[in-house]
Parts: sequence; C-alpha cells; structure tokens
Amino acid sequence: MTSLLEQLDALQAESLSEAEGISTPDALESFRLKYLGRKDGRLTVLLAALPGLSPEEKRDVGRRANALKNALEEAIRNRRQSLDDTRLTAALTRAPLDLTLPGDPLVRGGLHPLTRVQEEIVDIFVRLGFSVAEGPEVETDDNNFTALNHPPDHPARDAHDTFYLKDYKDADGRPLLLRTHTSPVQIRWMRSHRPPVYIVAPGRVFRHENVDATHSYVFHQVEGLAVDTDMSLGDLKGVLTLFAQRLFGGAGADVRTRFRPSFFPFVEPGLEMDISCTLCGQKGCRVCKGTGWVEMLGSGLVHPNVLRAAGYDAEKLSGWAFGIGVERVAMFKYGVDDMRLFYENDVRFLGAFA
Ligand code: PHE
Repeated sequence: MTSLLEQLDALQAESLSEAEGISTPDALESFRLKYLGRKDGRLTVLLAALPGLSPEEKRDVGRRANALKNALEEAIRNRRQSLDDTRLTAALTRAPLDLTLPGDPLVRGGLHPLTRVQEEIVDIFVRLGFSVAEGPEVETDDNNFTALNHPPDHPARDAHDTFYLKDYKDADGRPLLLRTHTSPVQIRWMRSHRPPVYIVAPGRVFRHENVDATHSYVFHQVEGLAVDTDMSLGDLKGVLTLFAQRLFGGAGADVRTRFRPSFFPFVEPGLEMDISCTLCGQKGCRVCKGTGWVEMLGSGLVHPNVLRAAGYDAEKLSGWAFGIGVERVAMFKYGVDDMRLFYENDVRFLGAFA
C-alpha cells in the first residue's frame, strides 16, 4: 500500500516533468492518452489494484489518485494554452497584421448602357405626360403586321426578316412570331384602352439578320403613340425635336432635327428624323459619315386603317407614332462604333458606363 502511494508520487513527478517538454498538439494528445487513457493509461493501470485494498487504504489512495488526475488535467490545459499562444505569436510574426492596408475593393455593379439609354428616353416622354406600356416578345401576325396595315402577302412584310415560331399558331391559324418592332404595342394598347392615348413602349425586338457593327438579330426600340383629336404633324415634329434636345442637348449644345419622307405601312405620311451630329458639330465625322446628320427614328401620322383595326373612330381621332432605335441612340451618345460591344458583356467596356 505504501508502495502504491509512492508509485503515484513517482508517476506525478515523471508525468509533470514530461509535460513541460511537449511542443505539439499531437504530442499533447498522446501524453493525455498515455497517463489518463481509460483502458491502459498509466493511472488507470495503477488503480487496477484498488479493489484489493482495505477501506482506509482505498480512501487514501483514491484521494491521492484524484489529486494526480487533477494535476495532470491542469498541466494539459496549461500546455495547450501555451502551445496556442506560441502558434499565434509565430503566425503574427511571420505575417504581421497591418491594419492600415486598404480592404479588398467591392466592385459595384451598374446599369447596362442600353438600359440607361432606354430609361433616359422613356423618362423624357414620361415627363411630357406619356404613360409606359409593354407588350410580349412573342406576337400574333395580326398585332405585328395585319392590324398595322400590312395585309397578308403584302410585300412590306418581307422587309422585316421575321422569326416565325412555326409550331405555334394564333387564333387565325397563322404562326406566332417574335415581334419585329414594338409597334404591335400600339394595337394592344388601343384595343384595351379608350382614347386619348399618350404612351411609350420600350422593348426587345427580333429580326433575322446577320450580326455586324450596325446590325443584330435582337435589339431594342422605344415606341411612341399619341392619339387624340386634332393631332398634327407639327405636334409630332415639335415633340420629337424637344426630345432630341433633351437627350443630346446637355450643356447648351445646339441640337437640330430634320425630317425626311419615308415609308412605313402604318403611318401616312411617314417621316424619318435625323439629328445634327453633335460629335463633330456637323463638320463631318466617322459617325455621321461626313454628312453632319445621324438617323435617329421612324415616325409619322397614324394611318386611319390602323385606328380602325384597333377599333378607334378614324373620323374623329388622329394620332402620331414613332419608333426609336435604342442601340442607335446609345452608339451615337457614347461614340461607340460597333453595336456588338453592347452584347459581349466585357466588363471593361461596361465598367466605362457605371
Ligand atoms: N416600327 C418601325 C420600325 O421598326 C418604326 C416606326 C414606328 C415607324 C412608329 C413609324 C412609326 O422600323
């Protein structure tokens, strides 16, 4: 029995001095198992002799063993703490924490230039009292063509290079299509609202065209439609000129417009609007191809057939409409000479507009 107490003393002296030399977390864990392990830890093994002892001996040895166990646990805790401290100090010395370094920049997104330009165009008309309308990209032949005064088999349809969804037919048995312009929104709006009408309709349109610097099979337009009593060509020209001045005229730039006769089946007369090239002050440059003028939109007085097709009284009402090419405006506004840049989503290009 004396020898058991002595053995415990010896075990304590040995183990605590061993603990001093431990230098890694793994070695510390082996140390714990070696002395305190439940199955063959050295303390456990020593205590296997306990059942053979008298009650007084059991009490003394039990106390001593408990003290040793506590001492070992404390030594392990202290050791772990000091290993952690050493590791932290080492890490801090290796790569000192410099709180004055700038953080990682968080790059802010921005609106796509086409979205910006589209919003600017729409805003100008909203401030003039126009409402915003929208229509679907998949359209019926009637909304995209027939009601817009392109009778079936009319050659003007050919100018549109239409994408047809040949497996999907509308109520007339004609294939549905991807709208080739935003003008079908005119029809949708008039068929569902009473006059007067003052709307703009931004949206995506599709044409079966080869992609090059100035063409794409998907692009954007902002449609405009005004229907009321006594609407004149003068109103149209005035509103569109005001629009051009607001869009391009910042900083007192002198922006002029010019209207040329043109043909669209759903207007009569039809007009295209050019604006004076603000990039070169009309001296002639790459963008205006030396002419001093840039083509901006198609427009005209709403054809009576269109009013009738939409269920409006063409005797009492008159109107005008326009269709603005968003890409065209954006290219001119930002001096971009290749439309494909808008679709490639190169962040270096897009970042210039953020
Ligand atoms: N829809 C025509 C186009 O896409 C543009 C336009 C709209 C012309 C309204 C006149 C009036 O080319």
